[in-house]
Amino acid sequence: MYKLNENYLKLPGSYLFSAIGKKVSAYSAANPDKKIIRLGIGDVTQPLVPAIIQALHGAVDEMGKAETFRGYAPDLGYEFLRKAIAENDYEARGCEIAADEIFISDGAKCDSGNIQEIFSTDNRIAVCDPVYPVYVDSNVMAGRAGEYDKFRETWSNVIYMPCTAANGFAPELPDETPDLIYLCFPNNPTGAAVTRQQLQKWVDYACRVGAVIIYDAAYEAYISEPDIPHSIYECKGARNCAIELRSFSKNAGFTGVRLGFTVVPRDLKCGDVALHSLWARRHGTKYNGAPYIVQRAGEAVYSQEGKAQLKEQVAYYMNNASYIYHGLKEAGYTVSGGINAPYIWLKTPDGLTSWEFFDRLLENVNVVGTPGSGFGPSGEGYFRLTAFGSYENTVEAVDRIRRM
Ligand code: MLT
Repeated sequence: MYKLNENYLKLPGSYLFSAIGKKVSAYSAANPDKKIIRLGIGDVTQPLVPAIIQALHGAVDEMGKAETFRGYAPDLGYEFLRKAIAENDYEARGCEIAADEIFISDGAKCDSGNIQEIFSTDNRIAVCDPVYPVYVDSNVMAGRAGEYDKFRETWSNVIYMPCTAANGFAPELPDETPDLIYLCFPNNPTGAAVTRQQLQKWVDYACRVGAVIIYDAAYEAYISEPDIPHSIYECKGARNCAIELRSFSKNAGFTGVRLGFTVVPRDLKCGDVALHSLWARRHGTKYNGAPYIVQRAGEAVYSQEGKAQLKEQVAYYMNNASYIYHGLKEAGYTVSGGINAPYIWLKTPDGLTSWEFFDRLLENVNVVGTPGSGFGPSGEGYFRLTAFGSYENTVEAVDRIRRM
């Protein structure tokens, strides 16, 4: 008789955004006349920019002709895209990352869930609290998280690094020594950012204790301040201790198109084994490459027109962020984020729990956000709103909340 991976049975409830989706659908079915504004999941709403559409059309046409048709993509990604990334995202920022250290994938969510596979299940992970749930859940599935304490909502073998108002939502170095450290900056969910100097402290720490940092930079396009690093490789020594995850979802609107990449520098070694070769082996075995058409669309992100059009798109969302931030602040809410990230993190009013505030917003003003407690115990009493809605919906949502 077969047996199940019992680690899955330890997972409490369903994935955060599925749980919210079900709650909103039930409310909507019971109240079909209500106009619900969704500022919950960080999903984009603006159409793909013309440079990307043009690249998609061009690639589709190529697939229709025998002489330009492409079959399987190279498993690590097409050279044209890896080169464009190396030049624009790294070389241009003074980071030493070669095209062959970049692994193209169908998105940072999958990569952030899969990367743990190349590490021993004995490794201890450290995560920010609150945290993007995929880092923790994927380690639970792998059997690395220990036992769940349903009262504290924590896992026994996970090191939690609280990110609170008191520390400016930036984690302190942990007391216990982790093997793998997940960091995401600009941060999902708090919208906080760390300076280059703060991040350098983490790189130095990881090198000193022999840990690997898994650095999620999915929101780097939203950075507006000069001393905030776009990549962990802007820090000295990061080639020896860090893997970086990137996405095209937020900077180019690819949530439905799917494209991302992971950087594993060749200098990152455990003894004499390069992590690069393990990730290449994993990628080659389990993945057949992102579609050619999509990789051409990714290349267009780095064209002159693409860059200019996407700069405008990012500014559009950041204008929403500013509207939410200032609108709620004026209304007396305690808010943060929204300056280097498309997320606004607010303290729930009247001592409400995160889920009580979620229900109040949904039922009273038909606005959906994300309860902070869904991201970890230190998120309790907080709430996340995304700037990825349309401007009109964002304005209406803020006005409704202000009138509540
Ligand atoms: C979020 O809302 O936290 C993100 O959209 C989820 C994701 O990127 O997978």
